[in-house]
Amino acid sequence: MAAVEGYIVPKRFYDRTVSEKLLYTCFLLLVGLGYLMASSYLYVSHEMNDGKPGLSVADVANSYYGNRSGTRLEAAIRGPMAGNISDEDRGVMVAWLKDGAEEEHYLKDIKPILDKTCLACHQQSSGMNLPDFSTYEGIHKFAQVDTGMSMSSLLKLSHIHLFGISLLLFMLGSIFIQTEINVWFKRFLVVSPMLAVFVDILSWFLTKYDSHYAIIVIAAGGLLGMSMALQIVISLYQIWTLKRP
Ligand code: HEC
Repeated sequence: MAAVEGYIVPKRFYDRTVSEKLLYTCFLLLVGLGYLMASSYLYVSHEMNDGKPGLSVADVANSYYGNRSGTRLEAAIRGPMAGNISDEDRGVMVAWLKDGAEEEHYLKDIKPILDKTCLACHQQSSGMNLPDFSTYEGIHKFAQVDTGMSMSSLLKLSHIHLFGISLLLFMLGSIFIQTEINVWFKRFLVVSPMLAVFVDILSWFLTKYDSHYAIIVIAAGGLLGMSMALQIVISLYQIWTLKRP
C-alpha cells in the first residue's frame, strides 16, 4: 500500500504484474471447478437418503437427524427383502425390534428365522459381501433406530470444513478485495461466505437434534455457493479488464 496525500491507496488489479494475474486466474478457475465437484458429490451421495431420487430437505434431514421412524432391518424386511421372509416371521421380527431387540429373545425367536431364511446370502461364506447376520453383533447394528450422523463424525467433518474453507475463503477474499465495486457490496461479499460456513456447520448440529433445521443447512450452503461464485466471476472479469483511472 502506498500513502498519497495522507490517504491509503488500496491495491487494485491494475497494480499487479501479468504473472500475478495469471496466478490469480488459475487459482480462481480451479477453485470454481472444485466447488462444482463438491456440489456434484454432495448431490450423488445424498440424493437417495430418503429413498427417492433428487436432492430434497428430507435427504439432508436424514443424514444428520436420521430416519427415526424405524430401523434399517425393519425397512429391509418390509421393502427390498420382503420376498425373502414369510408374513408370520416378519411379524415376529418386527415385534422383536419394537421390543428393543434384546439378545435373549434373539436366541429364542430370531436366530432360527435368520438361519432358515437369511443366512443363505447374509453370511461371510456366501461370498456375496453382504452384512453378516450369523451373530447377534452383526444383526444388532441394523436393529437400532437410525439417528443419523454420529457426534464424532460430525465433529470431524466440522473441523475439517472450518479450517479448510476459511483458508480458501481468505485467499479468495484477498484476491476479490482488489476489485473496484461499491464498497458496501464488497464488504458484504467478503463477510457473507464466512458467515454462511459458520451458520451451515452450526445447523448440522442443530439438525442432529431437530430435523427442521435441515432447511437452514441448505439455505446457508446456497449463500456460500452464491458468494463464492460472485467473488470468482467479478474477480476473473476485473483482473483482465480493470484500467488504471
Ligand atoms: C437371496 C439373497 C438374500 C436373502 C435370502 C436375504 N437377503 Fe438381505 N440383502 C440381499 C442383497 C443382495 C442386499 C443388498 C442390496 C440391497 O440392499 O437391496 C441385501 C441387503 C439387506 C439389508 C441391508 C439394507 C440396508 O439398509 O443397507 C438388510 C438389513 C437385509 N438385507 C436383511 C435381510 C433379512 C432380514 C433377510 C432374511 C429375512 C434377508 N435380508 C435375506 C440379499 C438377500
